Formats: sequence, C-alpha cells, structure tokens
Amino acid sequence: MKMTLFAAASSLALSAATLAQAGPQAEVLHWWTSGGEAKSVAVLQEEFAANGGTWTDMPVAGGGGDAAMTALRARVLSGNAPTAVQLKGPAIQEWYEEGVLADISSVAEAEGWDKVLPASIAAHMKCEGQWCAAPVNVHRVDWLWANASVLEANGIAMPTSWEEFNAAADKLQAAGIIPLAHGGQAWQDATVFEVVALGILGAEDFQKAFVELDQDVLTGDKMVAVFDQMRKMRGYVDANFPGRDWNLATAMVMNGEAAFQIMGDWAKGEFLAAGKAPGEDFLCASAPGNGFLYNVDSFAMFDVDGSDKQEGQSLLAKLIVGQNFQKVFNLNKGSIPARTDVAMDEFDSCAHLSASEMTSSSKDGSLLPSYAHGMALRGAQSGAITDVVTAHFNSDMSSADAVKMLSEAVANSL
Ligand code: BGC
Repeated sequence: MKMTLFAAASSLALSAATLAQAGPQAEVLHWWTSGGEAKSVAVLQEEFAANGGTWTDMPVAGGGGDAAMTALRARVLSGNAPTAVQLKGPAIQEWYEEGVLADISSVAEAEGWDKVLPASIAAHMKCEGQWCAAPVNVHRVDWLWANASVLEANGIAMPTSWEEFNAAADKLQAAGIIPLAHGGQAWQDATVFEVVALGILGAEDFQKAFVELDQDVLTGDKMVAVFDQMRKMRGYVDANFPGRDWNLATAMVMNGEAAFQIMGDWAKGEFLAAGKAPGEDFLCASAPGNGFLYNVDSFAMFDVDGSDKQEGQSLLAKLIVGQNFQKVFNLNKGSIPARTDVAMDEFDSCAHLSASEMTSSSKDGSLLPSYAHGMALRGAQSGAITDVVTAHFNSDMSSADAVKMLSEAVANSL
C-alpha cells in the first residue's frame, strides 16, 4: 500500500514537472530594475505567460546596462547563453559576428516587421540581411526634466539655450536648491555630455564627431566649448553625486531637492510610476539645441538548444513587436513605440513631443544615434570617449587638455 502511494505520488510529481517544462521557455537577461523599468518589463512577462510561456528572469541592476553586458559576456564565454538578451545598437552586430545569435527572420517575415518599422530602426535589427533583434521602443536621450513647482517658485522658465540654463542654475543655487540632479556613473556623465554636445556642436558636427569620429570636429573650438559647459555642469551638482543611481537622481527632482535632470525619457517612466503628472508635477522639454538623439531598446536571441527555448524565442520576438505590447510597454517605459502604426491617443504630451520631433528631425537630418547609449559606435570607440568625459568631469582637467585626450583616445581605439 505504501509503495503504491509512493508510486502514485511520484508519477504525479513527474507529470507536474513535465507540465511545467512544456511550452515556450525563455531566460531573459535585462537591466530594467528601477520602479518604472520593472513595471514596464512586467508587461512582457505577463504577455509571455498569457501565451503559455515560462519566463525565467535574469535582471542585472545597473543603469545603462554596463553590468548586464559584463554578465552576458561571462554567460556566453561559459557556453551557457541566456535565451533572450536586452541588447542594442552596434553591439547586436558585434555579437552576430561572434556567431552566437539566432536568426529570427521567420518571425519578422510572418509578422511583416518591414512594413511597420521605420527603415532606420529596422537597419539596427539586421545582420547581413537577416533579422537578429526585435525593437521595443524609441527612447529619446536629449531631454531636460524639471520640478514644476520649484521652477515656478523661483520664477524660472524652461531654458531654451545653455546660457539660459546656466542663468537658471545660478539663480537656483543661490536659493539653496541643487540645480542639476546627477549620478556620478560613467554612463550618466556620458549622457549629459552628449546632450550638451548636440546643443553646442549642432547636428551636423555631432554626426561628424560621434558617428564618423572626425578628428577636426573632435579637436575643434566648439568641442572645447562643450567641455567648458561640462565644467559648469560639474559645479551645478551636489557633493553626494558620485555613484548615485539615475533613478535616485530623478527622485531628487520629484521631491524638489533638485530642479533639473538631463536624462533619457526612461526618467519619465520613474515620474509616472511615482504617480506624477507631466505639465503639473514635472516638466519635460527638448534640451537646448536642434536634434533628436535616439536610443532604441531591443532584444536579441542567442543560439540555444532545445525546441522549448527556441519556441520561447519566437514567441518573445512576436510579442515584442506586437501592437498591444508596443503601446502598453511604452506607456510605462516613457518611450514611444518603434512601430509606426500604434495609436498615440493614450500617450502624454512628452511622448507627443518626442514623436513629432522625431519626425521633423528625420526630415532635416538631425535624427542622430545616441553615442552614450550604444547606438552610434562600437564598444571600443564609445568606451574611449566616455573614459575621457568621466576623467574630465571628475577632475580639474582643462577643456584644452580634454580635447587633446579625446583626440588621442579615439585614434588609439580604432
Ligand atoms: C536603456 C533604457 C534604460 C536606461 C537606464 C538605457 O540605456 O536604453 O531602457 O531604462 O538605460 O537603465
């Protein structure tokens, strides 16, 4: 009798295990761990589960994804790649060249991605003609965020030039408010730097400097002026900035400790997750200058064995570019859909501004890839630039020396 019960119990356990294993599987490596980010990625987890998938979460905290990329390399080197990875820009092609990415063209073709994605976004998702990544969104990097009541109480309007920004910051500092909420991490320094650079260099020279690595622009007078403005920025952050996470800097703007933050619109995801409303609690504006720095999040699928995992990859790819996911995810994330056929009526005024300026920038040639968020350059080159930006921001290096170092670092990285 005992034996029979045991046999029955173990066969039950076995069938439960078989059931749990059945269906699409995905282990997903990503760095979406802040409040707004976690809320956003949960949308994908829910859709995956609703379609019969089993999701194994592999979050690696660290804004900008540097820590996630280190974790990814370790996994791939040990022959145990995750099924799906948050990966973007030229890093997608770099991994493809290592021969470790799966081909998702059959999903892309069945779903007609070429018809619903702008050609410039689709190009980032292709490796030698095949689809090797699925785009989630379009984040804009060159934003200025502000606490609405802090600006109002101090009689300050959203700045439209760097001179106005400096004047506002000086006034706020005199009133005892931290002008700029910032976290001293290399990628955040790089984010502020590229936004200042777009404003001061203009779109054409931004393209020459950070896409084409043109030495004349990298060493020109305008680049000296960019570092001069970075020195000013350094004076506008509080003493506790080193190492601070970006979402904690956003919280400083929310609670009025600081007035401004320069950050991509994932910061809006934080404001929204905290119940704050655009135009009332916080303000968004394009940072001074003409242009649009885009940062497209995407997922690449790695070569893995097992039909359950491969089914998981196809399902995930299909859901990611699906119309409903692109709407709900981006409402939470702060970005706008990568698909062109998603209704925007539920999106807020910041998202509408982003969509309309993305269109106008693509017409006048000022739609540019973000170097700080891995859209413009390969890792060696963007890393070389960021090292100089951070070294300058965290020392009393002169702008002339920074430009010299930048020129050398870029040349040595090629
Ligand atoms: C990613 C965003 C993310 C942000 C902060 C960016 O590079 O594109 O999706 O929210 O880093 O982690």
